[in-house]
Amino acid sequence: MEALEEDSSSLLQVRVRPATLNDRSAVVKILRESFTGSYRYWAIRDMDETLVLVAEVNGRMAGVAEVYTTRVDGYGKVGVVYFLAVKKEYRGMGIGKRLVLEAEEFFRRERCMYSAASTVESNKASQGLFSSLGYSLFRERDRVYWDLVEALSAYEDDVIMVKKL
Ligand SMILES: CC(C)(COP(=O)(O)OP(=O)(O)OC[C@H]1O[C@@H](n2cnc3c(N)ncnc32)[C@H](O)[C@@H]1OP(=O)(O)O)[C@@H](O)C(=O)NCCC(=O)NCCS
Repeated sequence: MEALEEDSSSLLQVRVRPATLNDRSAVVKILRESFTGSYRYWAIRDMDETLVLVAEVNGRMAGVAEVYTTRVDGYGKVGVVYFLAVKKEYRGMGIGKRLVLEAEEFFRRERCMYSAASTVESNKASQGLFSSLGYSLFRERDRVYWDLVEALSAYEDDVIMVKKL
C-alpha cells in the first residue's frame, strides 16, 4: 500500500498546451483564485494579448502561464513569463516548473536571448521556482532591474528574474 502511494505522484500525467477559446472560463477561474488587486485585473485583461499556456493533470486544468516576447535595448529578444498560476490543490507538484520550461521552449523557438519574469519580495514560491530553474534575481539596486522593468510591466514588483537561454 505504501509503495502504491509513493508511486502515485510519478503517475501524474501533466500536459502543457496552448489554451483554446473553450479554456477561457477555466483559465479566468485560476487567475481569479491566484491573484488579487491590479495583478488580477491585468492577468485577465491581457489574456488576449499574450500566449496562454495551460497545464492539465489527468485531463483537468491545473495551471496557466501567460507569456509574450519583446525587444529590449542591449538584451535582444526577451521572452517574458508575465503571469504564472497553479491551482491551489495542485501546487508543489512541479506544475509551475513545467509551465516555465514549456515557456522557455517557446522562447527558444522564437529566438529569444533571455527569459524573464518578475514578482514581489514576499513571493518566496515564485522566487524559489525561478531560482531552481537557473534564473538570477535582480532588485532595484541592480541595473538589470531598471533595464527590464518596462518590458516586463513590472512596476509593482521588487524582483526581476532573468535567465540566459
Ligand atoms: C508560484 C507558483 C506558480 C508555484 O507553482 P507550483 O506548481 O506550486 O511550483 P512547483 O511545484 O513547480 O515548484 C517548483 C520549485 O519552486 C519552489 N517552490 C515552490 N513553492 C514554493 C514555496 N511555497 N516556497 C518556496 N519555494 C517554493 C521550489 O524550489 C520548487 O522546487 P522543489 O519542489 O524541487 O523544491 C504557485 O505557488 C502559485 O500559483 N502561486 C500564486 C500565484 C503566483 O504567485 N504566481 C507567481 C507570480 S510570478
